[in-house]
This record gives sequence, C-alpha cells and structure tokens, in this order.
Amino acid sequence: MSKHNCYICDKETSLLMSFGQMPIANGFLAKEQFKDEYFFEMEVAFCQQCKMFQLVNQPEREQMFNESYAFFSGTSKAMGLHFEKFANHILSDYIKDTKDPFVVEVGSNDGSMLKHFANRGIRHLGIEPSANVAQVAIDNGINTVVEFLDKSLAERIVSEYGMADAYVAANVMCHIPYINSVVEGIKALLNPDGIAMFEDPYLGDVIQKTTYDQIYDEHTFLFSVYSIQYLFNQFDMEVINVEPQVTHGGSMRYVIAHKGAKPVHKNVYKQLEYEQVSGLTDFETYEKFRQNCGKYQSDLMSLLDDIKSQGKSIAGYAATSKSTTIINYCSITTDHLDCIYDTTPIKQGKFSPGAHIPVVAYEEFKNNYPDYALLFGYNHEKEIMAKEQEFMDQGGRWITYVPEVKVI
Ligand code: TYD
Repeated sequence: MSKHNCYICDKETSLLMSFGQMPIANGFLAKEQFKDEYFFEMEVAFCQQCKMFQLVNQPEREQMFNESYAFFSGTSKAMGLHFEKFANHILSDYIKDTKDPFVVEVGSNDGSMLKHFANRGIRHLGIEPSANVAQVAIDNGINTVVEFLDKSLAERIVSEYGMADAYVAANVMCHIPYINSVVEGIKALLNPDGIAMFEDPYLGDVIQKTTYDQIYDEHTFLFSVYSIQYLFNQFDMEVINVEPQVTHGGSMRYVIAHKGAKPVHKNVYKQLEYEQVSGLTDFETYEKFRQNCGKYQSDLMSLLDDIKSQGKSIAGYAATSKSTTIINYCSITTDHLDCIYDTTPIKQGKFSPGAHIPVVAYEEFKNNYPDYALLFGYNHEKEIMAKEQEFMDQGGRWITYVPEVKVI
C-alpha cells in the first residue's frame, strides 16, 4: 500500500484498504476501446488529524470529466424535483431580501439546478468542466463556463461579475482533490454575508449501511461534518447548519458562511456529537468497515452464484457510477449478468467499465424480462420500482444489496 499525505491538512494518513484495480467509474466504452482501458489501484485512507476519509490515488481529472462525460443530472425525475426544492430553499431562506443576487454553481452539469434561478431572471453562473453536459445547459440559456473551479477562476469571476451571494454545489465538492484551493476560491467569491451550500454523500451513511459503492475514482472524499468544519476553518469560514438528505443513499447538505457572519444552528453541534458517539472520528470504525465490505462482497456473490447455478437469468438495472465499484470489486462478470438496462443514451450500446457488461436501453427491459434484476440504482428504488411494476407482476424479482444483500 502506498504512503499518502492528506489532501486537506497534509498529515500522513492511515491506509485502510485497497479495492484492487479499478477502471474509470463513468468510463462506459466501445469494444474497440477495451485494449486501452485505464485502470488504477483504488485505495482508501483516513486522516487521523482532520478525519477526512479519502482516496489515495486518483486518475487525472481530465480522464474523468471531459467531452464525453456520461452522467447527466436530468436523468432522474426525483432528482429533478430535489434540485428544484434545493433552489427554492436558497431563494426563500437565504437570498430573498438580497438586491440583484448572484448565484454561482460549481459542477452545474446540464443546468438541472441553475435553471430554477435562470427562469426567474436571477444572475447566475455555472462552472462545468465536462463540455458535453455543459452544452445542454448552454443550449437552454444557462450562463455556463467550461472550466474547473480554483482560486484563480474565482478571482476572475469576482472581477467580471462581482461577488456571489450564494455558492451552490451538489455532488461535486467531494470530487475535488485540490479542494483547499476551491475553498480559498469560495472565500474570495462570497460576499461578507453570502452562503455556500453544498451536498455530498455522507460518510455516516456509508459506514452505517456499508455502501462502499460510494467509493470510486470521482469521489476523492467522503465528508463528515467534522472534516468539513476542519476544512473551512482553515480559511476562516465555518459550518452554520447541516441538513441530512435521503439522496444518493444518504447525503449531507452543509451551509457555510464567513466565520462569525451568521449564527451557528444547533444541528451542527448535534451532528458533531453523533459523529463522535458513532465512532466516525475513530480509526477502529474504519477497520470494521473494511471487514464489512468483505462480507457484503461474499454475500452478494454467493447469491448471484446460487441463482446462476439454478439456470436463472439476471440483468443489472441502472448503470450507475457506483455499480462500477460493486461489479469490479465483487468480480461480477458477463457470466452473472446478461446486460445492464439504463436510461442514459450515451451509455446505451456501450459496455460497463472493467467487466464489459453490455449496457442496453431500458425500453428493452420489458421485451426480455430476466428472472432477477440486480438493482444498481437502489437510490432511485421508488422511481424505478414504480416504472417497472409489470416486471414484478409477471414474477420478476429484484436483488438489492442496501442495506443488506437480499431478494425482494
Ligand atoms: P445515480 O445513482 O444518480 O448515479 P451515480 O452512481 O452515477 O451517481 O444514477 C444514475 C444512473 O441511473 C444513470 O445511468 C441513469 C440510471 N437510471 C435508470 O436507468 N433508470 C432510472 O429510472 C433512473 C432514475 C436512473
């Protein structure tokens, strides 16, 4: 295992485990690309100083976020509603009384969140490095720059547009290894009484439910309130509220302000206490997590092998980024899954990263119902089950692995 210094505080981290050789989680590929597929050793570490859970190695950012990025925020209806509510929350609770507010979103993807500001004529700017998804936003009239955010871009934004009243990000901050520079950028970007609000998968949920599939190349970090407080304190900013979310199998939304600018809500202290009591700040918790990952892997593989030994068919459902970790860590192959059904056009007709399982348009599912469907999109369970009621009505069974491996 490699030696690794923390991205946040530069202390040497404690290495936890390796998930083995992993491909790019969103790197869906064509047959002719198989021979050049990129792999890296996916190891995770815990920093005993700032308590940040992090990847040790990460592919170059352009290898993950580029003109053929496969993740479009707008693919889930429920997520669309979630972003609308998030935008309304900022509007009514934080910038309602601000004159001519300016909202900046980093990782603005296809504009699923910013459109709720743009539609109301609110000044906004999206920062999105993946050109193809950014183009969807631009085509819909959302002001977007195709760049990576860092301190120097933040300074350019301030000189061109002025300071921001709200900085927003959803499932983006945990993607950024040079996050210190981004936080410096947020510090430079935000008005004295501005707020930064962002949400990401929550470490507490990952540990509690053993959702190790939240660990993949793009997720440099899994945040806790403790580690986020440490990160922002370095730049004279602080967490003033936290709001747990059900999205992505359990996320946390952090509200940040310049230090002393706004009162700190009691939720922050409560959550910090929860993290201490539940052991999120102790290394031993992560040793237990490592053992749990091994158990989940063997439980899932025993179930799949057992079903296959009865001559039954299994297909995957939703080719999520998270599924890349499950498939490659558990060694799921085309012997187990006939294909994976998915709604994203750019993934259809391609093959899953690493294991090369064919990805098929979800419309085909009803023409070829398998005996079992392995639900990789468990965080969209309600939406998917409602859409695929007929599969169950005609005797199909779902396999899930969150919060435990079971057949529904
Ligand atoms: P998500 O959990 O948001 O992805 P990730 O793990 O990549 O963050 O799921 C997005 C994927 O799920 C995307 O490939 C589309 C697919 N999906 C379906 O196939 N059907 C559905 O009904 C939904 C909601 C998503």
